[in-house]
Parts: sequence; structure tokens; C-alpha cells
Amino acid sequence: MKLSQRLFTIASLVKKGAVVADIGADHGLLSIYLVENKIAKKVFAVENKKGPFSRLEKNTKEYPRITTSLSDGISEIPDDVDTVIIAGMGGILVSDILLKNEEKLKNVRYIIVDAHRDLCLVRQTLENLGYDFEKEILVKEGVFYNVMSVKRGQSKLTPTDLEFGYHINKDPLFNEYRETLLEQYQRNYNCNNSIELAHKIERLKHL
Ligand SMILES: C[S@@+](CC[C@H](N)C(=O)[O-])C[C@H]1O[C@@H](n2cnc3c(N)ncnc32)[C@H](O)[C@@H]1O
Repeated sequence: MKLSQRLFTIASLVKKGAVVADIGADHGLLSIYLVENKIAKKVFAVENKKGPFSRLEKNTKEYPRITTSLSDGISEIPDDVDTVIIAGMGGILVSDILLKNEEKLKNVRYIIVDAHRDLCLVRQTLENLGYDFEKEILVKEGVFYNVMSVKRGQSKLTPTDLEFGYHINKDPLFNEYRETLLEQYQRNYNCNNSIELAHKIERLKHL
């Protein structure tokens, strides 16, 4: 099975032998890839909507190492899950999912997030929950995606890491990403002359 570059990048961050919860598993492609390629020992694939859940059940029924669950976020993940993946959602929703059932993270050593907005909020939430950044990887598939991976531990995020991404200026796609962000910020700045945005543009130019 061939995954999109975004999902492949997420899969490449999962440790071998992990017990994974794939939150918002939808089509189940990532869950299937993880067990087919013997990366994950087992996957708990979660959907909170009936339509996507039926499709998930249908697509994964031949994979005994995938358990499906019609439930909300991480509310019902089993105690042996050590890796949570939340991909393809807005950052506010990702943060809510993690914060709403924080106690469920007690055995979770790794979290991998691909949020599509409000990335600073996601980084802040992960840090506040007691996770340390391992990697943030840029993926370009038409638009840019930031795939973040964190592990249990004391975070060392700088204000620049929080705002633009963990060690983001070391990423091979950084220059292109910066140009795209600058264009967006500049367009917004032209419509609303906020001082905050002007400062952001300056900080980004000097990264
Ligand atoms: C855009 S899809 C992303 C699918 C896949 N994770 C990916 O990255 O390609 C987002 C999925 O998350 C599901 N979802 C949204 N909120 C959820 C929640 N609180 N709990 C479980 N699933 C949720 C949606 O039903 C949808 O199928």
C-alpha cells in the first residue's frame, strides 16, 4: 500500500513495536500501514462519527491487530497504548482532545501530531502536558504540513520554536516554507496593519 507523503512521514516517526492509538483514523490507511509493515504491535483506531467509523470497520476487518472504536478522542484508549497519533485536524481540536482526557495519557510515551492550523497552540499544549519535542518535519503536498513528534520529558522549546516550529530552520524545506509564510503574513498585514504581525514578519525574516 502506498501512503501519501504526509501519512508516510507520520508512520516513519512511530517506534517499532509501538502500541498505537490512531485518533481520527477515518479511512484507516495509516493504521493498516502500521500493522502491515510490522511497525506497530497493534493499533487502536478511533473515529467519533458513524460514517467514517463504518468505513474504518470495513477497511480494517481483515486486520486482527487493529481494534476499532466509535468514541471521542483519547477517552477510551486502553492502558497499554504508548503512542498516540492525531492527524488531519485543526490545532484547537487536537488540543481539546488531549486536554479533555489528560489522565488517559499517563502511559503514553510518544505523541505524533499533524495539525492543520493553530500550530503554536498545539506546541504549547504538548509542552504543558509534559512532553519534549523530538522532531518537527515539514511535508509539502500542495500545501505545507508540520508533523510533530514528542516524547515524555521536560520541554526545551524556545519562543521561536513555539511560534514557527521546533528547530524548523534546520528543515531542508525551511526556505520555501518561510517564503510561503511571509507571503501569507504580508497579505494579512496589507489588510490589517497589526503591529504584532509586523513583528512576526521581522522575526521570521531573521530566522
Ligand atoms: C480529515 S480526517 C483525517 C484522517 C487521517 N487521520 C489523516 O490524517 O488522513 C479527520 C478525522 O478525524 C475524525 N475526528 C474528528 N474529531 C474526532 C474526535 N474527537 N475523536 C475521534 N475522531 C475524530 C473525523 O471524523 C475525521 O474522520
